[in-house]
Amino acid sequence: MSILILAIESSCDVTSAALCRDGRILSNIVASQKVHEQYGGVVPELASRAHIQHIVPVADAALKEAGKSVNELNAVAFTRSPGLIGSLLVGSQFAKSIALALNIPLISVHHMQAHVLANLIDERRPSFPFLCLTVSGGHTQIVVCDSPMDLKVIGETIDDAAGEAFDKTAKLLNLPYPGGPLIDRYAKSGNAQKFSFPEPRIPGLGFSFSGLKTSILYFLQERTVVEPDFILNNLNDICASVQDRIVTILLHKLRKASRQTGIREVCIAGGVSANSGLRHAFEAMGKQEGWNTYIPRFEYCTDNAAMIAITAHYKFLASDFADLSVSASARADWVTG
Ligand code: KG4
Ligand code: ZN
Repeated sequence: MSILILAIESSCDVTSAALCRDGRILSNIVASQKVHEQYGGVVPELASRAHIQHIVPVADAALKEAGKSVNELNAVAFTRSPGLIGSLLVGSQFAKSIALALNIPLISVHHMQAHVLANLIDERRPSFPFLCLTVSGGHTQIVVCDSPMDLKVIGETIDDAAGEAFDKTAKLLNLPYPGGPLIDRYAKSGNAQKFSFPEPRIPGLGFSFSGLKTSILYFLQERTVVEPDFILNNLNDICASVQDRIVTILLHKLRKASRQTGIREVCIAGGVSANSGLRHAFEAMGKQEGWNTYIPRFEYCTDNAAMIAITAHYKFLASDFADLSVSASARADWVTG
């Protein structure tokens, strides 16, 4: 029997729906929410309302693009946690309604597991066990993946996430939200050696980005006293230097994790893995260290439903279904149920 799954992602400010047949993605529709830009960050209540407006047209478009009708679905999946509770509720209620109406299985998915498994979407994929550095707006983790259902977090941030480090730096530079992609763009024409920022000394495989943020703040305050247009005159070099430091913090820990575990199948995932500086430096480190490196296609790095669909596919194979009473959860506990 072939398995056709409709998957929904609505954990933050992206409404997305994807169709997947036997582990192959047929469509992946993503509607991002512009409404937050003017506030410099995601406004939870506005996000929930936008999800309500987007979810039916987005799911409809995903079905159309795949050339499928709802009656052909074998299961429906949704992001259960972590995320903004109001946003998660929209996706979970939508998926439950479809499961109930069509009498098909419901599959709940952990967003961070899905970011990792985005590396299993394309033909060229890592073999098990593999390591994954997952870097998003809310999380920074190093995960050992022994099988699609068996993941263990071996390192994570003790304060800000890597994406937050990008976004908060962008805010200090008066750039609009989300600033990560803009820092990436300006950094391309900048000199990464121009300014230097400290690397935190965190033991083991832990990360910390709050000290970096403070040092950037003081650095900018000092320089603008002397030169009021300092940011404007040095934007590219500041972006390149900050990006270089964030990337080296991430990759030094990833190298440590690989040397400790002896695992050389290494992936990155999450919104920040769309960063061109990280992608290049990761490939370069992979060559030095003798890794096989994997990065999801660009559209599968930032939030999307294709990664929810591929995770749901493996959960379907494991008969790991959710009850209609399952509730969305804002918390990040590593649950696969
Ligand atoms: O995974 P994601 O789409 O959503 C969460 O689960 O959080 O990640 C969003 C984060 C934001 O902080 C955004 O600024 C960052 O990913 N991001 C980037 C780039 N594209 C997205 N950061 C740096 N460079 C990029 N090109
Ligand atoms: Zn995400």
